[in-house]
Amino acid sequence: MLIVQELIFMRKISERKRTASSGRRIFIASQETRQARSLREMLSAAGYQVERLQKDRGFPGRLQEDPPDLIVLDSDFPNVETTEMCRSARMISQARFVPLLMLSGSMDQSGQFLAMKAACDEIIFKPISPSRLLVSVRSLMRLRDLSDDPEHLTMAFHILMRTAQSRDPEMMGHAQRVAHYAVQLGRALGLSMAEIQQLHSGALLHDIGKIAVPESILYKPGQFTHEEYEVMKAHPLLGADLCRNLRPDALPLIRFHHERLNGSGYPLGLVESSIPPIVRIVSIVDVYDALRSRRPYKVAFSVDRSLEIMREETDRGWWDANILTVLEECIRAGRLH
Ligand SMILES: [Fe+2]
Repeated sequence: MLIVQELIFMRKISERKRTASSGRRIFIASQETRQARSLREMLSAAGYQVERLQKDRGFPGRLQEDPPDLIVLDSDFPNVETTEMCRSARMISQARFVPLLMLSGSMDQSGQFLAMKAACDEIIFKPISPSRLLVSVRSLMRLRDLSDDPEHLTMAFHILMRTAQSRDPEMMGHAQRVAHYAVQLGRALGLSMAEIQQLHSGALLHDIGKIAVPESILYKPGQFTHEEYEVMKAHPLLGADLCRNLRPDALPLIRFHHERLNGSGYPLGLVESSIPPIVRIVSIVDVYDALRSRRPYKVAFSVDRSLEIMREETDRGWWDANILTVLEECIRAGRLH
């Protein structure tokens, strides 16, 4: 009943909004006829042109031929198949940046993780109300419009930062401190102005991928299960994907800030010279601030204890010893406050 009332309400709203949505094309990939019909009804009522595709019947061929403004993937398929459909859409250059919205009945955490890894932009869970669907459709289309227009990239960047701030103020406080520390350390290491600017944006955005990590994992006080840790470990790649158009210069810092010199880091297990110095700076100040801060699973350590832990980790081959020495000099000189 609620859904019917919402549909009537959204139809009224759509009369006023038709200009914004008319001419916009949405492909629905769904195997289930009733669900596809209901989606078509909701979206057509809001003024969108809707076309239904099915796996092996139009999907993914139509994406290449005539890419739409948005893809809605109704995922009543097994996890692997859904992920494969996401990935195959992303392999098509014409559809690479088309927003992909997934509708899911019941998807476990590993399914969600696989979908996000396959570059799905948003997942909504069923039952789906017309208003919930349209909010996501409009916001994904708006973001796409912004990312198509270089003049709007700064605005999109600020929207992203505000989203992160409202979801997790503590994470943004950490990001701002890491950016401040990275700039101070970069200056002490004699980096150029361009490198300092790159450090600043990379450090500010390094954990932005955490906005795609479920809160149950993000704020978990105890130890992660193997599966949860895998979801958490995806945040550098998710973040780099989010920022691919916004801040290309920040991408290596976002993607690689959890790598360690001895190859024991993630997501790629890079070693030594394949980790650029500018990334090593962000990794070191990220760890320093994490040690100095209280987290759901630990207390805040003192400056001395934090440096002691980092020296032990450097001996294990994780961090750059020279950069750590300069960090310590900066701290002792009071330049990191
Ligand atoms: Fe991180």
